[in-house]
Amino acid sequence: MHLPLSPFTALAAAAALAHHARGAIDPSAAGAWAAAHSSASAALAKMSQSDKIAVVTGIGWNKGLCVGNTAAVGSINYPSMCIQDGPLGVRFGTGTTAFAPGIQAASTWDVELMRQRGSYMGAEAKGCGVHVLLGPVAGPLGKNAAGGRNWEGFGPDPYLTGTAMAETIQGMQAAGVQANAKHFIGNEQELNRETMSSNIDDRTMHELYLWPFADAVHAGVASVMCSYNKLNGTWACENDKAMNGLLKKELGFQGYVMSDWNAQHTTNGAANSGMDMTMPGSDYNGKTILWGPQLASAVSSNQVAKSRLDDMAQRILAGWFLLGQNNGYPGVNIKASVQANHKENVHAVGRDGIVLLKNSGVLPLGRVGKIAVVGSAAVVNPAGANACVDRGCNTGALGMGWGSGSVNYPYFVAPYDAIKTRAQSEGASVTLSSSDSTSNVAGTVSGADVAVVFITSDSGEGYITTEKVAGDRNDLDPWHGGNQLVQAVAAANKNTIVVVHSVGPVVLETILALPGVQAVVWAGLPSQESGNALVDVLWGDVAPSGKLPYTIAKSAGDYGTKVQTGTDSYTEGLFIDYRHFDKAGITPRFEFGFGLSYTNFTFADLKVTTTATSGPATGAVISGGRADLFDTVATVTATVTNTGAVEGAEVAQLYITLPASAPSAPPKQLRGFAKLKLAPGAVGTATFNLRRKDLSYWDVGRQNWVVPSGSFGVSVGASSRDIRLTGTLSVS
Ligand code: BGC
Repeated sequence: MHLPLSPFTALAAAAALAHHARGAIDPSAAGAWAAAHSSASAALAKMSQSDKIAVVTGIGWNKGLCVGNTAAVGSINYPSMCIQDGPLGVRFGTGTTAFAPGIQAASTWDVELMRQRGSYMGAEAKGCGVHVLLGPVAGPLGKNAAGGRNWEGFGPDPYLTGTAMAETIQGMQAAGVQANAKHFIGNEQELNRETMSSNIDDRTMHELYLWPFADAVHAGVASVMCSYNKLNGTWACENDKAMNGLLKKELGFQGYVMSDWNAQHTTNGAANSGMDMTMPGSDYNGKTILWGPQLASAVSSNQVAKSRLDDMAQRILAGWFLLGQNNGYPGVNIKASVQANHKENVHAVGRDGIVLLKNSGVLPLGRVGKIAVVGSAAVVNPAGANACVDRGCNTGALGMGWGSGSVNYPYFVAPYDAIKTRAQSEGASVTLSSSDSTSNVAGTVSGADVAVVFITSDSGEGYITTEKVAGDRNDLDPWHGGNQLVQAVAAANKNTIVVVHSVGPVVLETILALPGVQAVVWAGLPSQESGNALVDVLWGDVAPSGKLPYTIAKSAGDYGTKVQTGTDSYTEGLFIDYRHFDKAGITPRFEFGFGLSYTNFTFADLKVTTTATSGPATGAVISGGRADLFDTVATVTATVTNTGAVEGAEVAQLYITLPASAPSAPPKQLRGFAKLKLAPGAVGTATFNLRRKDLSYWDVGRQNWVVPSGSFGVSVGASSRDIRLTGTLSVS
């Protein structure tokens, strides 16, 4: 089956085309896709069948300048497409920025930084002649705390991830590069990712895993990557329900679906289920080729309709026209120097994504005479920041996980470097023990005013195994004996500050039980500006303002989900991360949305207005789903006051509780957030606009989003458990 593209209004297309004449179409503007398709359809008319096959088929592994390439088509001046990883910048670049990973961007809860990050990544990709940059990531969402690639994305809350997807995509595409939302869908673990099946029920699919992809489509994403795993027993890249049903029909996706690398299994199955481009075009030995000549014969023998081939090619060309790449796009040069001022975004995301978990008052550092720095993770990998292929080792300071979602660091400011520079400027001295050995550490730290100890936890993509971690983490403990290292430090220095660089949650119970541990700084994955970001917070140039994008549990078993060895039946349904802890009544150590500051904030004046009516969505399907799902139907406001002595930023968070008439649902679900930067004494207003979708559940029987009637709980606070204001919103 293939789905014809939806009709468009002549007016909207004309408006978008007028804009197109000046260059790129604003990819999120109404009518933008229609205009792009109209250009694509005109181009298609000039193409032979073999041209069309060339557009949809990669030229093979390791054959071009990029990780994925298609052949050029002279008749329409279409270049060889350069398709390049990845979600935090241009992979294999040498003059490019190593942006902070997605999870760090999520940890800032700052939509402006997210968008700027997207736009800078887009600018660099374009500068390198990359047509499609393979990111951002919404799958894995992160149902398993140990999932190896969770750090590439934005964490296990679909609303936070959906918002980050939209901001990133709009930033990237406004800069001229095609974004790629990946991996679609159910690719939640590395173990057996190419054989296992994710069996996801319909409601869970919609309310958790599909949700951020809907936001990505609504934001105008040009392409989507189907994943390696099976979904409900059928390969994701052969899944008619997922690609044709959910993505193209229900979400009205106008762009194209490309396979993950070698995730295609059959010629006709993929074509007829909605896959539009095969990557890299052969297996890794260059042997099995499933499209190319095979697709040509399938079309000749009518096993794949000619109209399906046209549809594939048109969708791909539409992505190219949508971004104005037909107009003076740079040639491919992955080694181009394109960093400009982009490190400022890395620095800001690194800093504002830092979450202060514990502080007995030792931070910010006042006048200190002697600082001890401890841990192998305080310094750059002695062999060089890029010594390990695709960052496949955890040696030295940790700034990102490993795999195809990594990039080269142009430089790396390690924590020790920045602490030393800063301390010297303050007249303080710094001693260092750059190993994780506990034997001589007492000598380094005793007598220091403070001891700053660095611990890590790493993970990545399953094609690399690092220290017995084959992608997914084996446990949620710190690596390299981190608990013992902190014990040794804290025993010898009563002013110990623990800094954690990690891909995801780490169980901190051992560390928190130590009386010498005065502060825990969750520094996440800050990439190349690691030390600079940290120093800003340690010395209080900027108050910490990050909030956890996941729950930190007291024990790994508390999450209720784990990496599976065979089929994953997703029996936890909607209840992942905080949704599970809330439902099961488990107290986490640090809840989703938690983070301390150097100042205090109070919340007041909750106001709720709504025009919402109960019942199903009724709008026509636009990019992202039925149009009315994106209408604002309620607005919640609250004031936030900085009552402390220093400037700071608070992330006000809105959680919704569905009324009793709805089917069983998580007790609270994030449906809005606002980051307010406030001077001491200043008052700001957090405004949360709720879309119809934000008040809906997925009704399996009606196959639609439905707003239930009754009284919705409205909770506004500083975390998912630190609720400061409650109210109701009634819908009849
Ligand atoms: C990964 C993708 C990546 C592709 C190309 C695959 O193994 O799953 O995320 O884009 O390789 O490097």
